[in-house]
Amino acid sequence: MSGIQPIPVLTIDGPSGSGKGTVSRIVAEQLGWHLLDSGALYRAVGFAASMADVDLADAEAVTRCAKATRITFKPSPDGRDTRVIVNGHDASDEIRTETCGAAASAVAAIPAVREALVAKQLSFRKGPGLVADGRDMGTVIFPDAPFKVFLTASPAERAKRRHKQLKEKGLSVTISGLQREIEARDERDANRSVAPLKPAEGALRVDSTALPVEQVVAKVIALVCADR
Ligand code: DC
Repeated sequence: MSGIQPIPVLTIDGPSGSGKGTVSRIVAEQLGWHLLDSGALYRAVGFAASMADVDLADAEAVTRCAKATRITFKPSPDGRDTRVIVNGHDASDEIRTETCGAAASAVAAIPAVREALVAKQLSFRKGPGLVADGRDMGTVIFPDAPFKVFLTASPAERAKRRHKQLKEKGLSVTISGLQREIEARDERDANRSVAPLKPAEGALRVDSTALPVEQVVAKVIALVCADR
C-alpha cells in the first residue's frame, strides 16, 4: 500500500555568492514551487538585534531577540520580488548589506537562535513543493528532501558577483575587501559547531564558477525532473 507522498523539497545549500539565491528563485518559478530564503531569516534576526542595540556576543540576549522578532515575507507591489518585513518594518534592502550579512553569520552560530527558527522554516513546506535555499537545508532542516544540491564557486568569482550586485544598488565597496569578508564569513559558517556549511550526503555538487546561471538552473531542473 502506498502512503501519502511527502511534499517534495529541493534543497540548495552553499556559500554566499555561489548563485544560490538567483538559481533557487528561477527554479522555484519554473517548477511552480514555494521558495524559502533561509538566509533572510538570519539576516532579519541580525538586523533586529542591531536595531535593538543587542550585543551580538551575548547569546542569551540574541536568542531572546530571535524569539521576539516577527519576520514575514510578502510579494512586492509589482510582484517581481519578495519583501522581508521585520517587526512591521520593510527591511528588504537593509538586510542585504555586508554589515547585516556579517551580523547574520554571527547570530547564526548561536545554537538557540537556529533552534528558534526551525519551526518557521518547516512551515514553508507546502504543496506542490518547496525550494529551500541556505546552508543547512539538506543536512539539518529537510534531511528527508528527495533532491539536494550543493552549489559552490571560487571566492574570487563570488566576490566579483557580490560587487556587481552591490554596485547596482548604488553601494560602493572594493572587490578585494569583499573577498576578504566572504572568506571570513565562509570560515565562520563552515567551522561553527552547529549546522556547519557542508554538502548533504548524496547532494549533487555544482561548481558555478564558470557556468552561466541558465546552465546551473538546467542541471538542477534535470535533477528534479529525472525523478518525475
Ligand atoms: O545566504 P545569506 O548570505 O543570505 O546568509 C546570511 C548568513 O546567514 C550566512 O552567513 C550564514 C547564515 N545562514 C545560516 O547559518 N543558515 C542558513 N540556512 C542560511 C543562512
